[in-house]
Amino acid sequence: MKTHTRNPIRLSLLLLVVTAMSTLIDPISAQNSTYNPSENILVNCGSSDNSTASDGRTWVGDANSNYTVGADKSITATPSSQGSVPQVPYMTARIFQTQFTYAFPVSPGRKFIRLYFYPSNYTNPNFVDSDSFFSVSVGPFILLSNFSALLTGQSSGQSSVVREFSVNVSSNALKLTFAPAPAPKSAFAFVNGIEIVSMPNFFDSGSDTFNQPPLVGTTSTFPVEQDTALQTVARLNVGGNTVTPPKDSGLYRTWEDDSQYIFAAASGVTYPKDPNLTITYPASVPSYIAPTDVYGTARSMGPNPQLNLKFNLTWTVPVDAGFYYLVRLHFCEIDSKVAQINMRVFDIFINNQTAEKTSTCSCKTIEWDSACLYTRTT
Ligand SMILES: *[C@@H]1O[C@H](CO)[C@@H](O)[C@H](O)[C@H]1NC(C)=O
Ligand SMILES: *[C@@H]1O[C@H](CO)[C@@H](O)[C@H](O)[C@H]1NC(C)=O
Ligand SMILES: *[C@@H]1O[C@H](CO)[C@@H](O)[C@H](O)[C@H]1NC(C)=O
Ligand SMILES: *[C@@H]1O[C@H](CO)[C@@H](O)[C@H](O)[C@H]1NC(C)=O
Ligand SMILES: *[C@@H]1O[C@H](CO)[C@@H](O)[C@H](O)[C@H]1NC(C)=O
Ligand SMILES: *[C@@H]1O[C@H](CO)[C@@H](O)[C@H](O)[C@H]1NC(C)=O
Ligand SMILES: *[C@@H]1O[C@H](CO)[C@@H](O)[C@H](O)[C@H]1NC(C)=O
Ligand SMILES: *[C@@H]1O[C@H](CO)[C@@H](O)[C@H](O)[C@H]1NC(C)=O
Ligand SMILES: *[C@@H]1O[C@H](CO)[C@@H](O)[C@H](O)[C@H]1NC(C)=O
Repeated sequence: MKTHTRNPIRLSLLLLVVTAMSTLIDPISAQNSTYNPSENILVNCGSSDNSTASDGRTWVGDANSNYTVGADKSITATPSSQGSVPQVPYMTARIFQTQFTYAFPVSPGRKFIRLYFYPSNYTNPNFVDSDSFFSVSVGPFILLSNFSALLTGQSSGQSSVVREFSVNVSSNALKLTFAPAPAPKSAFAFVNGIEIVSMPNFFDSGSDTFNQPPLVGTTSTFPVEQDTALQTVARLNVGGNTVTPPKDSGLYRTWEDDSQYIFAAASGVTYPKDPNLTITYPASVPSYIAPTDVYGTARSMGPNPQLNLKFNLTWTVPVDAGFYYLVRLHFCEIDSKVAQINMRVFDIFINNQTAEKTSTCSCKTIEWDSACLYTRTT
């Protein structure tokens, strides 16, 4: 069944680094290849200057850029207070009271699109945060609909809101359109920052690396088509600190500390890799799939098998109902005590359904687990 859904599939990237044991093989096989994106665009909206952020990346002001097209009207404004957010890109915004389109010259192919929002009152001229409701679309894909950065930030407890999408662009321009919601009447759209980074074809079924993921709870699989758009819900570094965009393998992804997603008190034990182990990537897995910092920490249930049978180690990720979710789990055995096949064996459930029965972590190097799973929430 071909899905012609024009709404994005919500994509959840859960990263569970569990297993261990890559021996010190020759250091040459410890690949260090980062992805080199052909497009790496950072736009500081509402600014006429180029600014360097605290992580060293340069954001280009959109005021004198050629990314804004035609006669679309917009206003630049500044937030009434800085709060706890970084200066760049949040201290300027471009505000839209009618539909507005940015056009980015890009090569065809999949791109990460990241949108940065600071919900705040804006001044010169004045806009009230609670009036902002808007949609964002790329070609036929509606990325956000009647979106309120204020309500989104309030519900997640965050001062700023970042939304990440993956869209395959088929022409040589990526057109990103902001439009105020038709109601309330005072609705306006705004954006503080836009990031576009080319990405490899690592979601699409039929790409060399990955098989079609099984649809959890059924015997079928669920293909990710070339024209499927995805939204990232969560990307977690299990058992470790947040991995920031400059520390990612060239794709500028953020891998969040997983501890706030752990459900209930049974949080297992976290640990780093044994220092004498070198993480290696099998030939079939591109090393940009995740950085070694991500594979170098893990969370396990602990060493007592009797105790382990009595509980589940569970992550809870809030999602919207009615979408398909891609769940991708990464495993690497990083505990040198687990040196034999079947020493570490476990089941994986997603929403109470069996996704993988008695997975064994037999990998001598990073094992790309076949569990690339979808589940439907209804
Ligand atoms: C990869 O190599 C570059 C340059 O040699 C270095 O700066 C970077 O830290 C290395 N990355 C990893 C993940 O080892
Ligand atoms: C900002 O950077 C862009 C791209 O590197 C460059 O074309 C432009 O001249 C710069 N603008 C200013 C004001 O420095
Ligand atoms: C727009 O800017 C890009 C990057 O600076 C440049 O490659 C392109 O030629 C510019 N296009 C026009 C029409 O000025
Ligand atoms: C994007 O879609 C086109 C077809 O529209 C396809 O030829 C191309 O391979 C796709 N690219 C990626 C990276 O999926
Ligand atoms: C924004 O302005 C409105 C109207 O003046 C006010 O009620 C609200 O408290 C302000 N919000 C913040 C975060 O200051
Ligand atoms: C957008 O959401 C707000 C708040 O829930 C609601 O008041 C408004 O009517 C909605 N607008 C549209 C066009 O659905
Ligand atoms: C790695 O070091 C640990 C102790 O830190 C030790 O138990 C283990 O045998 C070592 N493994 C190898 C392969 O040398
Ligand atoms: C899983 O099953 C338990 C017990 O039947 C139930 O309380 C819980 O809501 C279920 N969770 C999900 C996500 O369906
Ligand atoms: C773990 O979760 C699965 C699926 O929800 C459930 O069937 C099982 O009873 C749970 N095990 C324990 C020990 O709670």
